[in-house]
Amino acid sequence: MSEEDILRSELRWGGIALAALLVMLAIIIFSAIAFAVHPPSNVETIDPATLHLKGEFIESNLGTTVADNGAVTVRIVATQFAFIPQCAPVPAGQRVTLRMAAPDVVHGILVTGTNVNTMVVPGFVSQVRTVFTELGDHLMPCHEYCGLGHSEMWGTIRVLPQAEWPQQPGKVSCAAR
Ligand code: CUA
Repeated sequence: MSEEDILRSELRWGGIALAALLVMLAIIIFSAIAFAVHPPSNVETIDPATLHLKGEFIESNLGTTVADNGAVTVRIVATQFAFIPQCAPVPAGQRVTLRMAAPDVVHGILVTGTNVNTMVVPGFVSQVRTVFTELGDHLMPCHEYCGLGHSEMWGTIRVLPQAEWPQQPGKVSCAAR
């Protein structure tokens, strides 16, 4: 093999590598535009040392809240090794905002059978907006290793039909549902 052959071979492989990169870049751009596939982009900071003492994530404010205009917000604290509350009800077929924070270490939240999947990083509020369509209980395991109790850390999202969803504003819990 002459030096020229080697050079030609290297250029050819360089071209193949460049083409592969361009194909992957095109797929990323296409899926971002066509299917709105993107990483969670909400950047909102919160002090992890005091989030249980003041502000939005105090215990009495956790869980599912229906606002005066009917908007549904679910606030969950992910902590070693539980989700608080352990179960949160949501209405089917309606936009729901999930807001999550962690006081200790990095956790992950994933609602099976839905597109909800995000990390919960201390210092930041993780926010996901989605519409739940499948009725019933959906398991919500922690999916970031967070310590020895990680495998015991899970919660439930309970998707209720609109007919069972309370029309008046206020808190909604899984108890007695
Ligand atoms: Cu929390 Cu793993």
